[in-house]
Amino acid sequence: MGVEANALKRGWKAWLHAWLLEKLVEHYNQLTRTRKQALMNLVSDRVLEIGAGCGANLDFLDPRQVLWVATDINAHALRRARQRALRAGLRAQFCYALSECLPFPEAAFDAVICTLVLCSVRDPLRALREAWRVLKPNGRLVFVEHVAAASGTRLRAWQERLAPLWAGFTDGCRLNQETWHWLERVDFQELRIEHFSLPLPLVGPHIAGYGIK
Ligand SMILES: C[S@@+](CC[C@H](N)C(=O)[O-])C[C@H]1O[C@@H](n2cnc3c(N)ncnc32)[C@H](O)[C@@H]1O
Repeated sequence: MGVEANALKRGWKAWLHAWLLEKLVEHYNQLTRTRKQALMNLVSDRVLEIGAGCGANLDFLDPRQVLWVATDINAHALRRARQRALRAGLRAQFCYALSECLPFPEAAFDAVICTLVLCSVRDPLRALREAWRVLKPNGRLVFVEHVAAASGTRLRAWQERLAPLWAGFTDGCRLNQETWHWLERVDFQELRIEHFSLPLPLVGPHIAGYGIK
């Protein structure tokens, strides 16, 4: 257990969020399949996933190449991730952990995966610095995140307007976050960020890419 007891979520709301997440995963994976597969091909050996949810990214990991360490604060999501890992035949470990405070030593992982997480964690910069800390030198953080639309657009205005309501329904997910700024503030020797858009209401604007420690 790597998480303060009060941060661990295991009540009915957590159950509902995990259930919904699993329902949405297939569609989202279809929309992002090419990008996700290209990024997941870059990771191998000891791979940490922060905010792993129900294990959506297991579809893209090679069981022969990866030991997957999944962390999250939602007990129901991690239970679903465990079932998915079993079905995929992947070597896996599970740990309740806040991304902002990872219970692992420095340089413990060859890669870190982060998808649709930085919108939800309370302190994304701290989470990214933690990911950097636990990466080995030359290790890689791969990410896919929905982000704020360009400022001045109608979509951005709607994101700003609906952000508080949205966060209430989605376990704290922020619609209007310029996540690329957080990534740029971490000390990666190389950082690749691609901006693109998916055909989704409100959460269409995305970034994907990787940072090398
Ligand atoms: C939108 S879901 C994405 C799950 C998964 N990464 C995916 O791509 O399907 C966000 C996940 O981040 C988890 N989460 C939110 N804040 C967190 C934090 N501070 N530390 C760790 N996990 C967190 C939530 O419990 C949830 O499972």
